Amino acid sequence: GKSGYEHYMLKEIHEQPRALRQCLRGRVNEMEGRVSLDVDFDPERVQFVACGTSYHAALCGAHLLQRSGIPAQAFLASEYATSPPPIGEDLVVGVTQSGETADTLSALREARRRGARTLAVTNVVGSTVSRECDQTLYVRAGPEIGVAATKTFAAQVVALTMLALTTDGEQRDAIAALRDLPGNVQAVLDSSTAREVAEEYVDSEAFFFIGRGLCYPVALEGALKFKEITYEHAEGFAAGELKHGPLALVTEDTPVFAVVTGDGELARKTIGNVKEVEARDAPVIAVTDGQSDVERYADHVLRIPTSEPRTAAVLANVQLQLVAYHTAAMLGRSIDKPRNLAKSVTVE
Ligand code: M6R
Repeated sequence: GKSGYEHYMLKEIHEQPRALRQCLRGRVNEMEGRVSLDVDFDPERVQFVACGTSYHAALCGAHLLQRSGIPAQAFLASEYATSPPPIGEDLVVGVTQSGETADTLSALREARRRGARTLAVTNVVGSTVSRECDQTLYVRAGPEIGVAATKTFAAQVVALTMLALTTDGEQRDAIAALRDLPGNVQAVLDSSTAREVAEEYVDSEAFFFIGRGLCYPVALEGALKFKEITYEHAEGFAAGELKHGPLALVTEDTPVFAVVTGDGELARKTIGNVKEVEARDAPVIAVTDGQSDVERYADHVLRIPTSEPRTAAVLANVQLQLVAYHTAAMLGRSIDKPRNLAKSVTVE
């Protein structure tokens, strides 16, 4: 059942600390500063294929592998299957919560026809994807009932973070950040003011989400979750792309959620974009770990604990899940079963 929560989605959002502990269990060795997964992973190059939320996790995965020095690229499964790029010796990784998504299965079949080795990253033991791929990495988030993917996204990103770490040497900082992540997610759940933000902006005309680097897939995911369950117009943009078009949509009636972590170059540049939207009188909601001064330019701040950039993305996403949830609840939407959508999409 829903254990007292009004919706499965809210229950599953709150299950994220536990889902992440299960995902991490037995896989990170703090003493040795190493990650060990029961898959062989030593590829020349990696291609990810996935759909929807899992595609956003795949974008994070590609970014994390690149950071570890492995060329990697994420493809929408539906585009990969119709015009597959050259693969050579690549490993093709299918990221799919259900393990049954037709577009993803067909992209992986195409990859195998072309001689690639395949790895499934999935939540469901015995799913079609796990039977068809050479190897499987389970994300162990536990069953997810809500159509909107929440805890499985967090677990996918953590599983892909671990996968990237297996290729690096000693990774004590990243491992410590992973160890602290479930507790930090709990801290976000306990302190979030997302409901107030939802209340203030529920009647807006449209909702925009911006970020750079790993915060870009978080912006895309924030917008997808938002449109899926609120039925309102929401879009995620790479922060740097705003001025190349989307800025024309920005008004005082379009709140902009800016995902800004750390205090480096990316944060500085996103803050520049925040100033651009502010100059158009758009309300700005900063989702931030407080390391930069983005808060000075924001109407609201959704704080996340300070952590490593690799884990900050998961924390920021939790805030955006809560904003989407509370907005949809205020609008009286069918949150666990949004109109026109199915939990697993078994047609191409
Ligand atoms: O089961 P999968 O991860 O392959 O599903 C892919 C998408 O259909 C799925 O993530 C969809 O976008 C979600 N409903 C988003 O919340």
